[in-house]
Amino acid sequence: MPLFDSHAHYDDEKFDCDRDELLSRLTEPCEENPLGIAGVINCASDLETSRKSLALAEKYGYISAAVGVHPHEADSWETDTSDAVRRLAAHEKCVAVGEIGLDYHYDFSPREKQKEVFRYQLALARELGKPVIIHDREAHGDTMEILREFPEVTGVLHAFSGSAEMVRELVKMGYYIAYGGSVTFKNADRLAATVSEVPDDRLLIETDSPYLAPVPYRGRRNTSALMYATAVKLSELRGPAVSEIANLTRENAARLFNL
Ligand code: NI
Repeated sequence: MPLFDSHAHYDDEKFDCDRDELLSRLTEPCEENPLGIAGVINCASDLETSRKSLALAEKYGYISAAVGVHPHEADSWETDTSDAVRRLAAHEKCVAVGEIGLDYHYDFSPREKQKEVFRYQLALARELGKPVIIHDREAHGDTMEILREFPEVTGVLHAFSGSAEMVRELVKMGYYIAYGGSVTFKNADRLAATVSEVPDDRLLIETDSPYLAPVPYRGRRNTSALMYATAVKLSELRGPAVSEIANLTRENAARLFNL
């Protein structure tokens, strides 16, 4: 009954000092996580991290890669980027296009460019028949509008931060909802209230490692092992035991990502 981490960034420089040591024993049960880890989706944010993601998936059997350009990096998208992303996303170790979406909190790229790059990658996912991993920060309205333009595509809203109403809409559209460490935070009552809206067959759990470590590890470098604390929180909010949360989120990940 190990856990499945549907969103991590083990290519991040915060793992440069001990990446192989950490990843070679990540699946084993440990003090923080008695269940162990069944699998991890390593998500990309640009071309370089897409390549690194694929390399990690080739090295570690339990890691699968997502390939894509994050809204923060949308402004660096040039004409030859499309060909490169397409080539990398078609790789057999790439199980999803991500992470892609809109970020109106930081606005690191102009919004029009973010939308253009988002649409391009949704069309790519449709063409390749792969699911998408969506980053939506303070852009719920435009995110929903654009997702509706691609009814053949499905995927997951990563680090979900929307409303209960948005959960219901996304579920109708075939999407999965992923919760990470932020659901354990003290000020997360509104987010926590959405957890019980998600049907059993659409719930996912994630770290966004190395970011967003759950309580009581806030401020620490996040790893998949610390996700057990998030699973405990989901169990408190939904009812079933932690082992049941682990089972259903793992089965959901296997179904969504065709593992
Ligand atoms: Ni991420």
